[in-house]
Amino acid sequence: MRCVVANWKMNLSSVEAKAFCEDLLGRCAPESGTEVGIAPPFTLLSLVSGLVSAKGIKVFGQNAHAEAKGAFTGEVSMPQLRDAGCFGVLLGHSERRQFFGETDAALAKKVKAAWQWDLLPLLCIGESLAQRDAGQTLAVLGQQLSILAETGPGPLWVAYEPVWAIGTGRRAEAPQVREAHAFIRAELNRHLGAAASAIVPILYGGSVTPESFPELLGIPEVAGGLVGGASLDPKKFAELVKQAG
Ligand code: 13P
Repeated sequence: MRCVVANWKMNLSSVEAKAFCEDLLGRCAPESGTEVGIAPPFTLLSLVSGLVSAKGIKVFGQNAHAEAKGAFTGEVSMPQLRDAGCFGVLLGHSERRQFFGETDAALAKKVKAAWQWDLLPLLCIGESLAQRDAGQTLAVLGQQLSILAETGPGPLWVAYEPVWAIGTGRRAEAPQVREAHAFIRAELNRHLGAAASAIVPILYGGSVTPESFPELLGIPEVAGGLVGGASLDPKKFAELVKQAG
């Protein structure tokens, strides 16, 4: 199974989102065997879900709180994501870790909360440039995945997103992606067991474009892409969906 997920981050108005969805649906119908997702900002979830869910495109939140409700001003809960039509939720995106202090301990709670509310967690992991330069890439990925020892197995997608490749136009080279994805698979096998690991797709993210995606899809253990910048253009995103099919 291949997966292509658009992470819109903090972009698009309701008018732009509606135009994007109509344009995308006019360009592509996801092939069976390809999962297509869109992660809009919270304010656009219901709108986007209403436009694309019936066409088989899955909607993801970009984050959620682990508690179901309560006095957490500015936060959104897992059941609220469900209510807005979400299928899943991005967890641990590097921008959340970097700018909002998201910790592995909090992420373990969020993964369990997502399962409790029948949402698919898309767990994002990746090393910074300083960590790669210090030879710590695999240790960092291992640490970020160690939350699975606590959560145990469950429905899960993982995205490998080297921080230095996000929004920089500098995607990771094929050998770097191959090494990271093979390591992630080995860690998933170790934490979840081979059978539970086998159904977890590992996506690559970081400056994915229609120019770079075919080569990435040819790398073992790359099951698709988590796409930022190129996912804001329906033409480019539709092209990525076609390439994955
Ligand atoms: P870019 O595709 O803009 O590099 O962003 C990647 C990303 O962060 C997706 O979650």
